[in-house]
Formats: sequence, C-alpha cells, structure tokens
Amino acid sequence: MEESSVLRRANCRAKGGAPGFKVAILGAAGGIGQPLAMLMKMNPLVSVLHLYDVVNAHGVTADISHMDTGAVVRGFLGQPQLESALTGMDLVIIPAGVPRKPGMTRDDLFNINAGIVRTLCEGIAKCCPNAIVNLISNPVNSTVPIAAEVFKKAGTYEPKRLLGVTTLDVVRANTFVAEVLGLDPREVDVPVVGGHSGVTILPLLSQVKPPCSFTPEETEYLTNRIQNGGTEVVEAKAGAGSATLSMAYAAVKFADACLRGLRGDAGVVECTFVASQVTELPFFATKVRLGRSGAEEIYQLGPLNEYERVGLEKAKEELAGSITKGVSFIRK
Ligand code: NAD
Ligand code: LMR
Repeated sequence: MEESSVLRRANCRAKGGAPGFKVAILGAAGGIGQPLAMLMKMNPLVSVLHLYDVVNAHGVTADISHMDTGAVVRGFLGQPQLESALTGMDLVIIPAGVPRKPGMTRDDLFNINAGIVRTLCEGIAKCCPNAIVNLISNPVNSTVPIAAEVFKKAGTYEPKRLLGVTTLDVVRANTFVAEVLGLDPREVDVPVVGGHSGVTILPLLSQVKPPCSFTPEETEYLTNRIQNGGTEVVEAKAGAGSATLSMAYAAVKFADACLRGLRGDAGVVECTFVASQVTELPFFATKVRLGRSGAEEIYQLGPLNEYERVGLEKAKEELAGSITKGVSFIRK
C-alpha cells in the first residue's frame, strides 16, 4: 500500500492546522539548530515546525519527526525551498551562519553572516512579513540592524517584531550570580542590557532579584564572566564552535515567551535587542513586554549605580559602531 494513502488522516491534520503556532528554524541542521529543533518539537504551543538549512535539513527532519509530540515537522533544503519554508509562519528563528573559533571576535563573523541574514530576511519580507523574527546569528549587534534595513527596503518593517536574541546573556548571568549568592539559578533574575558582544553586554547587578548586594570584587568578577561567557565556551571547545546547547536552551526560552505573548498571555517579560528609544541609539537590549504584536512595551533602564553608568557609556560607544556597520551593509 502507498504511504500517501496510509497517511491520509495525518495529512489532513497537518493541512487542517492543529491549534498552535507555525514556527520556522533557519539553520536547523547546525550546532544550535538541531537541539533547538528538538526542543521546539517538544513545545506544546507549536503546531507546525519547518526546518530549513542548506545542508542535512531532511536528515534532521526525519530524526525529529519521530518524536511523539504534537507538532508536525517538515524539512526544506536549500535556497529553492526557502519560500515554502517561510510561507505562513508566525515565528521565524534564525541561528544560520558561521560560529567563532578561538581568537575571533563576533564581529569577525560579519563578512559571512551579514549576507546570509540579508538573504533569509528577504525571504521573510516576501513570504511571512507579519512573523515575529528571533535573530540569533552573530554579530547580533549588526545583524539586527541589517534585518531592519532589509525589511524597510521591502516596506514590511515593524520594529516590534524584530528581536535580537540576548537570552543567553541573561541565562549565564542568572547562573553565575546564583553561584556567588549560593542560590538556585531558577530563583534569580538578572537584567542584562545593551547588546550581545563584549562590553556591550551590561548586566545590571544593582537590579538583581531577589534584592542583594555585591562587593566591588564580586561585581568585577561577575561582570567580566558574563561579558566573556561566549569566549569561555569558544576556548573550551578549542575550534569546534561556540555555545550550542546552552544557546538552544536560551533560544527556546525566548521563543516560548514570544509564543505566549502571541497567544495573549499577560506579563511576559524578557530582555531582547530591539529598536528602542531608551538611549540615543536606534537599537538597544532591555527588558520588554511581549504581546500579540511582539515587543509591545520597552522598559527603561531604571536606576543605575556608578559602575553601571560607566559600563553603559562603554557599551553605547561600541554598539554605535556595530549598528552603523550593519545599516551601511544594506544601504551602501
Ligand atoms: P553551525 O555552523 O553549527 O550551524 C550553522 C548552520 O547554519 C549550519 O547548519 C549551516 O549549514 C547553516 N547555514 C549556513 N548558511 C546558511 C544559509 N544561507 N541558510 C540557512 N542555513 C545556513 O553554527 P552554530 O554553532 O549553530 O551557530 C550559528 C550562529 O549563531 C553563529 O553565527 C553563532 O555565532 C551564533 N550564536 C549566537 C548566539 C547568541 O547568543 N545570539 C549564541 C551562540 C551562537
Ligand atoms: C555566545 O555568547 O555564546 C555566542 O554569541 C557565541 C560566541 O561567539 O560567543
């Protein structure tokens, strides 16, 4: 008997659309993409999961599609299938692109990843212009401005829907602060603002919940460790890439928050790198409230101590250059 006739009812379910959201992962066969795909297949808010990559998309799809969870999984391989991968999506998560090796900065990835992000965002503008976009590809401080320029050119730009993923900085901050305080990391909430690279990653240790205080040595240690968390992993992997598993965990945490916002849940708050008027820069990471239209409310920085005010100035200086570099890549 032909598979198509045996699977008639399954095809009806996929076409009819089980309740939930349609999510695409671009770069789904990569170090982040694979565990991210697995975790999104486990998310009950996802009804359809599209896995797109330029290599091995069908292998990863075959593997993940055997998991007995609700989402229907489909694979898409290479540029000719990008539009099918994107059509009808509510949320697009982008971990496509090359990762760092020891000795590299995130900005060293610009030359390759800028072009990848541009092409993928042109596809989004054409096929799912109303989707929320979670951009993971580095350097995030430049790829988010690149995506914004692509969407502006296409006439589809809605700043609330374009979100740079900085959740891994918050996840690391919660972990390292909990270690110092002797707490369970799940009880700790550290706002991390600015951007996603070196000194642009600015943890606001004066605003940690539960309220606590740190010695100057603890503040210095924690700030450095959080700012260099990515490099710590790159060096430990010694040429085999950068954070993938903790990143997939962080990406799912953020994507799940976006989906809860889309569903209309109240009080969904996360840090993200987004178009913003909190500082004089056009993009800045802060806490935002996520809702049906994306980042519906962008929160102010709140009171900063002297250490954080100095850090903020350094962060803004570096961020300004990275943002301009991204914008010029499209406008040139
Ligand atoms: P990886 O090399 O393991 O995987 C990248 C995947 O992207 C590969 O499967 C590759 O085939 C695919 N790809 C390349 N070009 C593509 C294209 N044009 N269209 C679709 N897919 C394409 O890398 P990784 O470890 O998964 O990291 C991916 C990116 O995420 C890197 O840029 C890395 O720096 C970044 N990253 C960001 C954060 C963050 O906090 N935002 C954290 C970790 C890594
Ligand atoms: C991270 O913070 O782990 C990522 O941005 C990857 C990297 O290059 O450090």
